[in-house]
Amino acid sequence: MKKLKKDLLSIYDLDATQILDLVVSARKLKKSKYSNKLKGKVIGLIFEKPSTRTMVSFATAIAQEGGTPLILDTQKLQTKRGESVSDTAKVLSRYLDGVIIRAFKHEYVEEFAINSNIPIINALTDYEHPCQILADLMTIIEKFKIKSVKELSKLKIVFAGDTNNVANSWIALSAVLGLNFTLLGAKKYPPKKEFLIKALDIAKKTKSKIVVSNDLDAVIGANVIYTDVWTSMGAEKEEDERIKALTPYQVNIELLKKASKDCIVMHCLPAVRGEEISAEIMDIQEKNILDQAENRLHIQKAILLELIK
Ligand code: CP
Ligand code: NVA
Repeated sequence: MKKLKKDLLSIYDLDATQILDLVVSARKLKKSKYSNKLKGKVIGLIFEKPSTRTMVSFATAIAQEGGTPLILDTQKLQTKRGESVSDTAKVLSRYLDGVIIRAFKHEYVEEFAINSNIPIINALTDYEHPCQILADLMTIIEKFKIKSVKELSKLKIVFAGDTNNVANSWIALSAVLGLNFTLLGAKKYPPKKEFLIKALDIAKKTKSKIVVSNDLDAVIGANVIYTDVWTSMGAEKEEDERIKALTPYQVNIELLKKASKDCIVMHCLPAVRGEEISAEIMDIQEKNILDQAENRLHIQKAILLELIK
């Protein structure tokens, strides 16, 4: 595989070949026995926000490959008492072989990465969730038995709901791979301008079709409808206004009727049944959504094995 950059902070840290190679590698790892390639490696996990899937799948991936996951309680680190990010990053670089970070601010992981000489992996920030989107891509490739980027670009992928970190990573992935991607949501919550401008610029070269729409008919012909919570971690104060604005965009039977017959529904989880997704759709699509969650383990193992040698 073409060597990755030191860190994985954004989908934009990867080119199309690296993205597809990571999926190939993850699919092999999914079928194979553990290789013990992380034997002797100690990898820190710093999570400023709650996590079930990301923290447990990363810790499991590290342990299955013979390494040691070190879950660092942010309440017990000196950062809580004001130690700088740069000092923390420099010191931890002397002990650890990599750090996986979930942070409120994207600038935190960037500053951490600049100040460390070990790989830093973004496990979700306010800006992006790259590991999630790589697992999602793997799931789509498996579900639709995709053999080439050309086949992938023929799928219509619609993200319905909030324009959040997960949506941003989807926009980035679509631009880099040349996908047909629609962001469907409320006028009140447009995508981050700078993020969209960057993606549309790349999309010109990759022939990606990136559409932003407020019209529910945008799901006509969709092969994938993706959704995520309307209130992301850290935005709890806005919950009421978000529910009000985003209710028309709930993924439910009515919306699914507009899509292609083969349409699958994806959700990065955790889900709020009755808000962004109806309980009925969650039940019908449970297998797809759990397969998607499982793929977090495999893709993150592939990322770890490439970044931490
Ligand atoms: N999808 C996801 O990142 O889940 P967690 O918040 O549980 O890690
Ligand atoms: N957008 C959600 C994703 C959770 C995995 C959040 O940031 O809370």
